[in-house]
Amino acid sequence: MLVHVPNVLTADEVGRIRAILEANEWVDGRVTAGDQAAKAKFNLQIPDGSPAAMEAGDIILRALGRNPTFNSAALPLRVLPPLFNRYDIGMTFDAHVDSAIRAMPHNGMRMRADVSTTVFLTPPEDYDGGELVVEDTYGSHTVKFPAGDMVVYPATSLHRVIPITRGSRWASFFWTQSMIKDDGMRTMMYDLDTAIIEIRKRLPDTEPAVVALTSHYHNLLRRWAEM
Ligand code: NI
Repeated sequence: MLVHVPNVLTADEVGRIRAILEANEWVDGRVTAGDQAAKAKFNLQIPDGSPAAMEAGDIILRALGRNPTFNSAALPLRVLPPLFNRYDIGMTFDAHVDSAIRAMPHNGMRMRADVSTTVFLTPPEDYDGGELVVEDTYGSHTVKFPAGDMVVYPATSLHRVIPITRGSRWASFFWTQSMIKDDGMRTMMYDLDTAIIEIRKRLPDTEPAVVALTSHYHNLLRRWAEM
């Protein structure tokens, strides 16, 4: 399941993050890639765990906290601090799958990456190329969203970033360990939650069918969630 979440960041937040990144040095992006991915990867990153990454990352984590769509789609247990990357002309990231296990930068605690997220920080009209292409069982999805928008997709997906031919593409990316490891089960929870939200616009919350569906959602989550 690939979910587009529009307007996660306000224009002001995008501007503040870009100002923090502009004032900092970028390093070779291969520092956070696994062995296979490192050979496919050609981009720049703000150093993992640096004060700039933490400051800009906190703006994103606060925005996630107020975003019901991200919480419904990812059912987050742990979120790794956001990282930041940049693709200038000619830069690219060939097909790869993200590493399964990640370590938190400060305490070394390990977590499983179930959900991958990209937050766009450059308006699409400012660069050519740079589309994120995600493969799933239904084919290829090509993604290029406005600055401040986010795409959430299973970390099990093969994906790539097409080479940049004009401008520079800046983005944040991070991984989430979900309370529900299995993408198919997580998708069912998201679909159910989305349907309940729609039904509640039409029927009062005291309607027995609304109570039953809401109870079913919580009891499924209780049955499937792992902490
Ligand atoms: Ni990746």
